[in-house]
Amino acid sequence: MMTIEMRRRDAAEPAGEDASVPPRAGRASFRAERDALPRTGVDVPFPDAVRRERDDAEWNAAVPAAGPAASSPPQNTNHAQLLTRTQPSAQEGPMSQEAKISVSNFDFYYGTAKVLHGINLDIPDRKVTALIGPSGCGKSTFIRSINRMNDIIPDARASGSITIDGQDVYGGDADVVELRRRVGMVFQKSNPFPKSIYDNVAYGLRIGGMRNKRQLDEIIERSLTRAALWHEVKDRLHASALALSGGQQQRLCIARALAVDPEIVLMDEPASALDPIATSKIEELIYELKDNYTIVIVTHNMQQAARVSDRTAFFMLGRLIEYAETNEIFMNPKEKMTEDYVTGRFG
Ligand SMILES: Nc1ncnc2c1ncn2[C@@H]1O[C@H](COP(=O)(O)OP(=O)(O)OP(=O)(O)O)[C@@H](O)[C@H]1O
Ligand SMILES: [Mg+2]
Repeated sequence: MMTIEMRRRDAAEPAGEDASVPPRAGRASFRAERDALPRTGVDVPFPDAVRRERDDAEWNAAVPAAGPAASSPPQNTNHAQLLTRTQPSAQEGPMSQEAKISVSNFDFYYGTAKVLHGINLDIPDRKVTALIGPSGCGKSTFIRSINRMNDIIPDARASGSITIDGQDVYGGDADVVELRRRVGMVFQKSNPFPKSIYDNVAYGLRIGGMRNKRQLDEIIERSLTRAALWHEVKDRLHASALALSGGQQQRLCIARALAVDPEIVLMDEPASALDPIATSKIEELIYELKDNYTIVIVTHNMQQAARVSDRTAFFMLGRLIEYAETNEIFMNPKEKMTEDYVTGRFG
């Protein structure tokens, strides 16, 4: 509830030409906007009923048919009614920019359990897209589907399509190694290799065949600089990465992901294990990276989503409930479920 009140106050202030879009004038405005928000995260409590997994039969019973999207403000409809109009509304809105990642009728199964249901969304180039939703709703499954990280899970299966620049990620001719180079990933728990800082960042480059020390040095410095870590580690590049703090390790993992020159960076709760200062550094970094990269971030922290993202997709129970400009999701959601979730009022 705090978040919404704060954002509404922000919205009353002039915000450039288009008051519906948060000011994005640069680092200073980001800082001002971020600092205006309360520091503590809102980790929304989830009722057990929502955590519960449902199979298709339950869904079909609860959600009889899809209908047209409602454009009116949230009404006191029940969840089953709301769910009947979730997917079409996810396609609407003022978000016409060309998609970098385009997801269409995407389903995902672990064995016989269907955990993603007909996901449709277009993720724009060089923007930050946040994925939010209760625990178990499929955010990680979805984000990991984008670079086929789920391929290694036995019995996991996907249908529908995900394209990047129009190329089908799951197509027969897809090159998974090249895909993972183009689409880097940063996980919730930082996972540096038990090697030096330098060797961590060089890892992907060396696997790709790069041996030229000068070239490696250059890219490592650039990647660590982009990850806002260079100044903290430049005098100890050959020390163990494991001796870095948690926040530094996470930025090192970001540097490692950036070193191979990806186009897209996927981040699954990248700051959830960090203190507010380290979190703030990661958020600032995300904000700056979007000039050059398409970023998709999963977060449970509503304020973080509001601070760093341009668009937000709200998932629940394996379905995309609403997808819109972040300001819309937090200040004027179309679905009552979204409103309940972002205000921490769930149910
Ligand atoms: N490897 C797996 N094998 C089988 N089921 C899985 C596996 N990973 C996830 N699931 C199930 O898929 C569903 C979606 O899980 P997922 O991890 O994608 O959710 P999430 O939204 O990321 O949750 P959280 O916010 O807790 O990280 C859950 O019901 C989960 O139990
Ligand atoms: Mg997850």
